[in-house]
Amino acid sequence: MSYSTLVTSLIDGIYTITINRPEKLNALNSIVLSELEHAINEIYSNPLIKSAIITGSGSKAFVAGADISEFSDLTKAEAIKLSKRGQDIFFKIENSGKPIIAAVNGFALGGGCELAMACHFRIASENARFGQPEVNLGIVPGYGGTQRLTKLIGKGRAIELLISGIMIDANTALQYGLVNYVVQEESLMNKAISILSVINSKAPIAISECIRSVNAVEDHSTNGYTIENNAFGESFDTADKKEGALAFIEKRMPKFIGK
Ligand code: COA
Repeated sequence: MSYSTLVTSLIDGIYTITINRPEKLNALNSIVLSELEHAINEIYSNPLIKSAIITGSGSKAFVAGADISEFSDLTKAEAIKLSKRGQDIFFKIENSGKPIIAAVNGFALGGGCELAMACHFRIASENARFGQPEVNLGIVPGYGGTQRLTKLIGKGRAIELLISGIMIDANTALQYGLVNYVVQEESLMNKAISILSVINSKAPIAISECIRSVNAVEDHSTNGYTIENNAFGESFDTADKKEGALAFIEKRMPKFIGK
């Protein structure tokens, strides 16, 4: 399959998807989104593909965001539809049983940061920059950024990035846990390939089950607050809770029995 906005290759089981609009810093317009969805479907369906890399063309940008030029005439209903479409494609990346990693080779902003975060993990080149600058446009992230950024770097840092619109460099992203490695620009693809070569030698079912299990931590059908609420109630219905309270009052160490 040939694409107008993507370049793809399949070598030794590793499928590389390069978003190829360097003159627009690889911004995600509607064609890129459709082609990306098609390429992700290919990962699911092609048995020769064991794992995949998403990267951007050129040395300046991974993806500098959703294509702002397509925003001007969007109504509220259309914007909701676009956001849902982006979210669904990114869920497809996140839920792929075959590993999909982002090789971030420059600006990963807005939808670009969201795309990288939907991947199973990220490797960055030294010139990578991350951010959710939507607030600068008077809008909010729409492709899962508020959720995944918070899960990856924690609430305080996520809120700061979301409401300030500031960019962080690759080493700060490493420190925050947003990326697994920072490497020199010229080493980026080799690093991604060498990691995936190790992964590709492992059992495919075990790999997909690991991904499925990890994703279940943040199962979208589960409300973590409800689970915590019930767990709090359960813990109050134990002998250990009574012992714990009594020991505190009697100023001694508790003797817990696991009941
Ligand atoms: N959507 C559409 N076009 C974009 C784009 C985006 N998200 N990001 C960059 N481009 C285009 C620019 O309009 C410019 O096109 P032109 O040459 O036809 O004018 C081209 O890509 C190069 O970008 P430019 O702004 O000239 O590069 P720069 O080095 O001066 O700045 C950025 C780089 C990333 C800081 C800047 O492009 C930027 O802020 N982009 C928008 C980031 C953003 O807000 N993303 C979230 C969108 S919701």
